Amino acid sequence: MNYENILIAIENSVATITVNRPTKLNALNKDTINDLHKAIKLLTKNAEVRAIVLTGSGEKAFVAGADIAEFSNFSIKEGAELAAEGQEKLFDFIENSKTPVIAAINGFALGGGLELAMACHIRVASENAKMGLPEVSLGLIPGYGGTQRLPQLIGKGRAMEMIMTAEMMTAQDAYRTGLVNHVVPQAELLEYCIGMAHRIIKNSPNAISKAIKAVNANFEEGKDGYKTEIKAFGKCFGTQDFKEGTTAFLEKRKAVFTGK
Ligand code: COA
Repeated sequence: MNYENILIAIENSVATITVNRPTKLNALNKDTINDLHKAIKLLTKNAEVRAIVLTGSGEKAFVAGADIAEFSNFSIKEGAELAAEGQEKLFDFIENSKTPVIAAINGFALGGGLELAMACHIRVASENAKMGLPEVSLGLIPGYGGTQRLPQLIGKGRAMEMIMTAEMMTAQDAYRTGLVNHVVPQAELLEYCIGMAHRIIKNSPNAISKAIKAVNANFEEGKDGYKTEIKAFGKCFGTQDFKEGTTAFLEKRKAVFTGK
């Protein structure tokens, strides 16, 4: 499938998606959100793909935010719809994806760009990356989950400061506060993230998707994370991956998981 605003490469069970609007610093317009939704939907259904790395094209930006030009004269209703549709189609969709998604933050991750990275399961930044939620400087607030996911990742006080000052954080500060897991030189970023994806996909795809669900349950309104964990743990016992994993351990060999 061909997409106008993103590029996809699949190699050895890892898909790399690159947001590809470099002249607009990969800003997320409606079409890009639709492309990402369609692509991630297809990739997560593709049993050959076990992990996804998400990055931005060029050396300057991961994603510099939602496309400001597109919403600058929206009404109250259109604004609310923009946030609701984006959250459902892309941000919540990635967070709840069964396939692990790693954000390779290769430059500016601002507004919707940082929100996109925060919806991913794991974040790695290049040394030059700058992250922020500058929406209040535009008379807005983050609308793609930023007010919820930022405090989850770095704590309420730091999130309040970052949102209210609208200032950017360096990659090192993002590492120090837990916003990103690792910081690596820009030239090594993709290779590093793909390497991490390979370390992940050695394990049971079935168990990984259940782990994502159980971890996410802690942050979902009205859900009991412990109960979700118990249920998902139990379900693992009915899978071929569990039989294979335990048998391989006892036979002192490497497990070959099928995700069934
Ligand atoms: N929406 C739409 N277009 C954007 C954009 C966004 N979020 N971010 C950057 N662009 C566009 C610029 O308008 C410019 O387009 P042009 O060449 O047609 O004028 C192009 O990308 C390059 O950006 P520019 O501002 O010239 O680069 P810079 O190096 O001077 O500054 C940033 C880089 C990231 C600091 C600056 O682009 C910026 O502040 N972007 C907006 C960030 C933001 O507020 N995001 C939250 C949106 S809710």
